[in-house]
Amino acid sequence: MKIKTAEIVMSAVAPKQYPEGLMPEIALVGRSNVGKSSAINTILGRKKLARTSQNPGKTRTINFYLINEEFHLVDLPGYGYAKVSKTSRAEWGKMMETYLSTRENLREVVLLVDIRHEPSNNDVLMYEWLRHFGYGTIVMATKKDKISKSKLQKHVNIIRTKLKMNVEDVVVPLSALKKEGIEKVWEAFTKKMDLE
Ligand code: GTP
Ligand code: MG
Repeated sequence: MKIKTAEIVMSAVAPKQYPEGLMPEIALVGRSNVGKSSAINTILGRKKLARTSQNPGKTRTINFYLINEEFHLVDLPGYGYAKVSKTSRAEWGKMMETYLSTRENLREVVLLVDIRHEPSNNDVLMYEWLRHFGYGTIVMATKKDKISKSKLQKHVNIIRTKLKMNVEDVVVPLSALKKEGIEKVWEAFTKKMDLE
């Protein structure tokens, strides 16, 4: 995928703030700190478009990025951040549910998990939720640079098993540090969005 333009168009908390139009859209979801914002920068080849942090809880709004004036990538706030109050957790749930259940042009919601670890119970719940809405055919396994190549397949299998993924669904390992896995991500994304 050749990225000609990439810009943030909206940081939304409510549906009325979502960008209008019927452009295809793909959103990224996962635990806080798993690397969603970094993944967006990596696949777009932009260093600081999406804001990242070593501390969890950086992304707090639904951030819409317009790519090539053709489709949206959406960065979502993460879950499982211990310091968050019950009230904000409930708000997160409401915001996510509203987005997932009402966004018509949403073609896929990609779950991101850390390649080093077996998906947590929260990841499993999130994945089941995505399935319920008809999403979850692509999983991105982040921080690929933190395990050796010889262990890659084993870790991918652990993820597939724990999430009970279907054989036709894909796990794409990604490294934001080494910029690896980018083409495979676009291959999966363009198929979903009927681009090219
Ligand atoms: P929230 O916005 O809090 O939900 O987090 P996030 O999922 O957007 O995570 P973010 O992209 O901010 O990254 C969290 C931390 O993980 C940062 O310190 C990143 O540099 C690091 N990180 C992300 N991806 C990778 C990767 O592929 N390899 C390595 N080594 N570090 C990564
Ligand atoms: Mg983020």
